[in-house]
Amino acid sequence: MKIALIGYGKMGHEIEKIAKERGHEVVLTLDTLINPQDFTKENLQKAEVVIEFTRPDAAFENYKKCFEAGVPVVSGTTGWLDKMPEVEKMCKENGKTFFYSSNYSIGVNIFFRLNKFLAKIMDGFDNYDVNMVETHHIHKLDKPSGTAITLAEGILENFHRKNGWTLEAKDAKEKVLINSVREGEVPGTHSIKYYSDIDDIEIIHTAHSRKGLALGAVLAAEFLKGKPSGFYGMDDMLKF
Ligand SMILES: NC(=O)c1ccc[n+]([C@@H]2O[C@H](COP(=O)([O-])OP(=O)(O)OC[C@H]3O[C@@H](n4cnc5c(N)ncnc54)[C@H](O)[C@@H]3O)[C@@H](O)[C@H]2O)c1
Repeated sequence: MKIALIGYGKMGHEIEKIAKERGHEVVLTLDTLINPQDFTKENLQKAEVVIEFTRPDAAFENYKKCFEAGVPVVSGTTGWLDKMPEVEKMCKENGKTFFYSSNYSIGVNIFFRLNKFLAKIMDGFDNYDVNMVETHHIHKLDKPSGTAITLAEGILENFHRKNGWTLEAKDAKEKVLINSVREGEVPGTHSIKYYSDIDDIEIIHTAHSRKGLALGAVLAAEFLKGKPSGFYGMDDMLKF
């Protein structure tokens, strides 16, 4: 496939490597720090799909430019989810194609499933409370991570003693407390703990590198080929 990359940072570089290994052609790399002048409709139209990993405050404008050019978008940028209803509307009403996951790693998506399953079981045992810790590298801009938000939503759907998530310990009685740690170059670790006086039950996902994330994004681009317009996610691709 002919792929354009928007955002040529840590993820952009990793995605380029994997896309080439899988036989794709990277026809364009766009990054505001390097070549903002190349961000044109004509250039975008050279690609069959765009893979976008930029910044929370840039993502939505980038999607709109790709949609105007009529090119499907795979995005992994986190921290823009307040605009999600607008993007869904563009897909539904204006025939645009968009794939989003807060985490493209296959292992994390298995972990998402496990998290929901565990929350459902723990809902029946009143003596347990729950909290989460997410640890990432010091360059990460958003807090909590998009993955932590997805995990919290998975808990909230199934564990009815909580009514939201929070970063504040003072609100932890009614909400799922997320402790966001920023440390060194950690690629991403998420742990969820159900705790009681008697014992704790903890599940942990530890990423060893960005490779799984980049591979998932390229697989999502491959998945979109020939698909009708719409809003897609990992559940569509992995068919759990
Ligand atoms: N969904 C996932 O699986 C996943 C995985 C890793 C990172 N992320 C998210 O992806 C995003 C990028 O992560 P990263 O580690 O590559 O960050 P990074 O800072 O290394 O790279 C981002 C790049 O985007 C560029 N950029 C900023 N604004 C732009 C714009 N308007 N147009 C084009 N380029 C622009 C920056 O110059 C930079 O080079 C972050 O939001 C991060 O949280 C998601």
